[in-house]
Amino acid sequence: MAFFTVNLGFLITVFLSATFSRAHPGLGFGWGGGSGTGGHGQFGGGAVGLFPQFYQFSCPQVNDIVMSVLEKAIARDPRMAASLLRLHFHDCFVQGCDASVLLDDSATIVSEKKSGPNLNSLRGFEVIDEIKAKLEEQCPQTVSCADIVALAARGSTVLSGGPSWELPLGRRDSKTASLTGSNTNIPPPNSTLQNLITMFNRQGLDEVDLVALSGGHTIGVARCVTFKQRLYNQNGNNQPDETLEKTYYLGLKSICPKSGGDNNISPLDFSSPARFDNTYFKLLIWGRGLLNSDEVLLTGNVGKTMELVKIYAEDENLFFKQFAKSMIKMGNISPLTGFSGEIRNNCHRVN
Ligand code: HEM
Repeated sequence: MAFFTVNLGFLITVFLSATFSRAHPGLGFGWGGGSGTGGHGQFGGGAVGLFPQFYQFSCPQVNDIVMSVLEKAIARDPRMAASLLRLHFHDCFVQGCDASVLLDDSATIVSEKKSGPNLNSLRGFEVIDEIKAKLEEQCPQTVSCADIVALAARGSTVLSGGPSWELPLGRRDSKTASLTGSNTNIPPPNSTLQNLITMFNRQGLDEVDLVALSGGHTIGVARCVTFKQRLYNQNGNNQPDETLEKTYYLGLKSICPKSGGDNNISPLDFSSPARFDNTYFKLLIWGRGLLNSDEVLLTGNVGKTMELVKIYAEDENLFFKQFAKSMIKMGNISPLTGFSGEIRNNCHRVN
């Protein structure tokens, strides 16, 4: 009976998806296909057209393949989990979750890889390629690069000790990229809290999503250039950010000198940099958040985000639950579905 219910839902969704896409060619569900740099339509709990059983018949082993590649990649390089989580964020905030971030420069594409937030920073492309190659062997021309990125982000969270979630699937891949979108939609690390809230709101995400998703900084690292301003000239007065705890501040200065050392790295959560847990929030309370955008969640004078930081620092379970919810919400930003976009043969280029 359960099987029947699931499949009926599946068939109805496929039917509706196909019908709607035909009636509105090029539009598809989810206001997909948008190539602007502004905000995107949202669906709260779930984008219409995406559903967890999308590959149930066409590629039932999709998640097993993703996980087996991830396990090896993360064993080789523990930071890879963080890099893949971030890749999904940088994909979704530019034209929606459509794998636009994976496209290389070509005659028709200006790659997002050269944007301020991505250049010399974004990683994990070769792991996505490895997953794609295995999937093309097992289920040719079936699984989109955008879904691979979403699956890799979830798998990386799980393999780092974080929560899992039922992941809606069925995203299709864009035929366009937006360098401008990448430069303007991804918040910079010296953002004020108000700026962060505005940029998340534009994507249909609220303060709760902002705080929970910032918790992704419980794993991975950042380059000196992204937090240098806090150490030497926070407000244009040649003084450090006064919210930085003293010992932590001194340690950071030794990694990140006033001049040079821009590519030196420091963990975003120095007490457990490869473990997905709630120490990120505890560190914020101790004045040991690495980026300005991290610390302002607590100090930026918005009662709600301050409260949430304290709550997640107290209750890891609550953080995990909200992180999972917010990841689903972020993963639902403007997907291409139906007949919009394509299933790329190679994630680096359009077909
Ligand atoms: C709230 C706004 C955000 C800002 C301003 C921000 C900024 C940054 C910066 C500057 C870095 C270091 C990059 C470098 O030095 O090359 C970074 C790393 C990272 N970010 Fe964010 N981020 C934000 C939100 C997010 C979200 C929503 C996620 C995922 C849910 C995320 C996940 C990560 C991860 C995992 C890393 C480490 C990557 C690695 O080690 O390769 N960030 N972020």
